[in-house]
Amino acid sequence: MKGHNPLRAGVFDSGVGGLTVVKSLLEHKLFDEIIYFGDTARVPYGSKDKNTIIRYSLEALEFFKNFDIDILITACNSVSAYAIQELQEVAPFPVVGVIEPGVLAVTKRIDPNSLILIIGTNATISSHQYQTLLRKQNFHNLIAKPTPLFVPLVEEEIFEGEILEATMCHYFGNLRPDAIILGCTHFPLIADAISNYFDYKTTLIHSGEAIVEYLEQRGLAMPSTKSPTIKFFASENPEKLKKIAKLWLYKGGEGKISSSTTSPI
Ligand code: DGL
Repeated sequence: MKGHNPLRAGVFDSGVGGLTVVKSLLEHKLFDEIIYFGDTARVPYGSKDKNTIIRYSLEALEFFKNFDIDILITACNSVSAYAIQELQEVAPFPVVGVIEPGVLAVTKRIDPNSLILIIGTNATISSHQYQTLLRKQNFHNLIAKPTPLFVPLVEEEIFEGEILEATMCHYFGNLRPDAIILGCTHFPLIADAISNYFDYKTTLIHSGEAIVEYLEQRGLAMPSTKSPTIKFFASENPEKLKKIAKLWLYKGGEGKISSSTTSPI
């Protein structure tokens, strides 16, 4: 970390989903400027293997080196699951993923005897990262389930209704978890539907909120006095990313988009 308060963050995601993490950063005004890069040309990462995810992530890192960022946040759970160590080893700035913060959020809110359901992409679930870190914290009552169909549903802006209900029924069946880790960037957008699926209160852990708590607690981010500016970059179709950002981020009117460009990746 440089000698000043961290003001400029890079946020990396496989596509548009990382906007859910940006939303939390904006709500808490943690940075003056956010450089967002979504690898929209190569999404999804969640169905790719470990080596591919590492290679794509290291390429994205090269892109972020063009900016004077103080910290890189990998909003993507699949990247956080498979590439965080490789990124940390070579990055000239701190790199934080969303899995450690998610686990920390669990330990603060959930009793270790609770039944915890972890949902995410195939990559995130097969990496066993959440499971391993939770076990180290004495959480042993775990069910980990890949739920990749939720990703295209969210991308199609299906946040409720029959298709989503059928998909939840397919994945959740009669499970009765006390808490659910939303281990994928897209899932906060269907958090209400997931909560409503269960006829009792289950606690949902959201990567965006978890990372805000983590950054504040570790002194890796300070609240800013102004509304953060975001520069959007995408490896394909940046205009679509910008359009989705306007829809997902700015209902509350905070922050502003200053540019949107296709990156060389
Ligand atoms: N961003 C990814 C994640 O959080 C979901 C989309 C993808 O598979 O790339 O794991």
